[in-house]
Amino acid sequence: MALRRRLALGALTGGSLLLVYILCVNLESPLSWSAAPPKPSHGFTQARSSSSRDSAEPLDRQSNRDQWSHPPPTSTSTSTSTLPPELSSGTVLPESLQTPSPETQTAPAAEHTPADNNAPDNSKSRFKSGVEETRFRIMNQRLGLQDAEPTEPPFIGDNYMSEDIPPQTNCSDGIRSRVNQTALIGRFLEGVPVLQWAGHVTPEQHQRLSRYPGAHGWGGVDYKTLVETLSVLNSSANRWLLDDWTERRRTSECIRCAVVGNGGILKDSGKGKEIDSHHYVFRTNGAIIKGFEQDVGSRTTHYTFSTNTLMNSMRSYAGAGYKGPPLSEETRYVFLPDHDRDYLLMKAAATHTPVQRGPERGKDPSKYFGQDVSAEKLKMYHPDFIRYLRNRFLRSKALKTKYKDIYRPSTGAVMLLAALHTCDQVSAYGFMTPDYKNYSDHYYEKSYHPVGFYINHDLRMEMSLWQQLHQAGLIRLYMHEEVGNHK
Ligand SMILES: *[C@@H]1O[C@H](CO)[C@@H](O)[C@H](O)[C@H]1NC(C)=O
Ligand SMILES: *[C@@H]1O[C@H](CO)[C@@H](O)[C@H](O)[C@H]1NC(C)=O
Ligand SMILES: *[C@@H]1O[C@H](CO)[C@@H](O)[C@H](O)[C@H]1NC(C)=O
Ligand SMILES: *[C@@H]1O[C@H](CO)[C@@H](O)[C@H](O)[C@H]1NC(C)=O
Repeated sequence: MALRRRLALGALTGGSLLLVYILCVNLESPLSWSAAPPKPSHGFTQARSSSSRDSAEPLDRQSNRDQWSHPPPTSTSTSTSTLPPELSSGTVLPESLQTPSPETQTAPAAEHTPADNNAPDNSKSRFKSGVEETRFRIMNQRLGLQDAEPTEPPFIGDNYMSEDIPPQTNCSDGIRSRVNQTALIGRFLEGVPVLQWAGHVTPEQHQRLSRYPGAHGWGGVDYKTLVETLSVLNSSANRWLLDDWTERRRTSECIRCAVVGNGGILKDSGKGKEIDSHHYVFRTNGAIIKGFEQDVGSRTTHYTFSTNTLMNSMRSYAGAGYKGPPLSEETRYVFLPDHDRDYLLMKAAATHTPVQRGPERGKDPSKYFGQDVSAEKLKMYHPDFIRYLRNRFLRSKALKTKYKDIYRPSTGAVMLLAALHTCDQVSAYGFMTPDYKNYSDHYYEKSYHPVGFYINHDLRMEMSLWQQLHQAGLIRLYMHEEVGNHK
C-alpha cells in the first residue's frame, strides 16, 4: 500500500516532467491515413484536445477535470497529455504501477525464468481441462513482424500461448479470408486465445505470465486468487466469445457483429436499427442506451469493461443516465482484467456472493449484473490477447517512456479487436474518426465536450488503426465523411 502511494506520488511528479516533454515534442503530426505502415504512427503525444468515439476509459473526466489541469492550450492546441484520472482519484492504481520507474526497461518481472529459457520455440505443455483436452504451445515466431525490433526489451513479450481453435464458420467473405490480402497480415496470429478460462491456470502459465503487469499478464495476482477465481469459468460458454452461434446462425454462413463505441459521432446518426440487425452487438463502459435507441440501438450481446472503468463510468456518467451494464437475457459480460479486483468481482458475480476483498469488498455483484447472471454469461479476456494487441496493433511510443506499465489499448479498442478476431464481418460505430473534433466526446452529452487524451491510452494511434482496418476492408467504420486527404 505504502509502495503504491509512493509510486503514485512518483507518477504525479513524473507528470509535470512529461508535460514539458510533451510540449517539446508537440507535433500534432499530420495524420496520413492511407496505407500507413504498421508502425506506431503516432506517439502518445496524447492531447486533451478532443475526439469523439469513446470507449476509452479515462471516464473520470467529470470528476477529475479540475485536478488534472489540462495542459496549457498551447499554440498547436492539440497535443499534450495528462495522467489518467485513476491516478488522481484515490482509486486503486493499476497493478502495473508496481513496476514503474526508470526507462531502463526490464521490469523486475521480466527476469528470465526457466520456462522462458527452455521454451523458446515450441515448448508444449499439455493438460487436461476436464472440459476437453487442449493443447497449448507458446509461440515465439516473429512472423513477418519486420526486423525492426531485434532487441526488444523483455517486458514486451511478443510470444503467446497458442491453441488450436477451429473457426466457427466457413464464411467465404470473412475477415479471416480477407486478411491474407492485406498489408496487415504480418500482425495477425491465429491461435492466440481471446479469452481465459479455468483450463489456463497452471503453475507454468502463472510463472510465464506473472512477469507482465496489469492487463498484459498476471503480474501482481497471486496464484491462489487465480485458481479460485478462474475456476468458475469452466464451461464452453466461458471459452468462446460467441458461445451461442449455433443457436443464432439460422441460415447465415457468416457472423456479423456491430461494435459500438460511445463517440459523439453517433448522435443523431439514426443507426439504431442497423446496429440491432447484426447477430451480435458489442458495447463498452458508459454505454447509455435508454433514450438513445434510434441512434445506438437497444441490444447488447457483449459488454466489455474493466472493474475500474465500470466504477468510473458509474460515477462519471450517472448524471447522463448511466446506471450500470446493460441487462438483458442475451447479454454477456466480458471482463478486461487489469487488476486482481477484476478476478474477485468476476468470481463474486459467478457465485452470487459478495466480493471478498479489495476496493469492491462486500459489494453485491447483482447490483451490476442483475439477479440472473450466471457463470455462463461471464467471460474474461486473456492477458496474452491484450499483450498481443498492444505489441502488434497498438505499439505506442508510450512504451518507450516510464509510463510503459500504465499504457494499454483502450477498453473500446480491445473490444473492437476482439470482434475482429472472432466475427466474420465487423461494423464499428461510435469510434474515433479523423474529424473527431466536430463531435462531442460521447453521444449522450447535451453540450460539446472535447475528448480528453491521457497517457494510459493512445487514442490517435487507435484512430489511425481504425482507418487502416477500414481501408483494408477488414472492418466497416461508421464515418460522416470519407477521409481523403486530411490536411
Ligand atoms: C472443470 O470441470 C471439470 C468437470 O466438467 C472438472 O473435472 C475440472 O476439475 C474443472 N476444472 C476446474 C479448474 O475447476
Ligand atoms: C467447414 O468446412 C469443413 C470442411 O468442409 C467442415 O469440416 C467443417 O465442419 C465446417 N465448419 C463449419 C463451422 O461449418
Ligand atoms: C489465409 O491464411 C491462413 C493462414 O494464414 C490460411 O489458413 C487460410 O486458408 C488463408 N485463406 C485464404 C482464403 O487464402
Ligand atoms: C467539421 O468541422 C469543420 C470545421 O469546423 C467543418 O469545416 C466541417 O464541415 C465539419 N464536418 C462535418 C462533417 O460536420
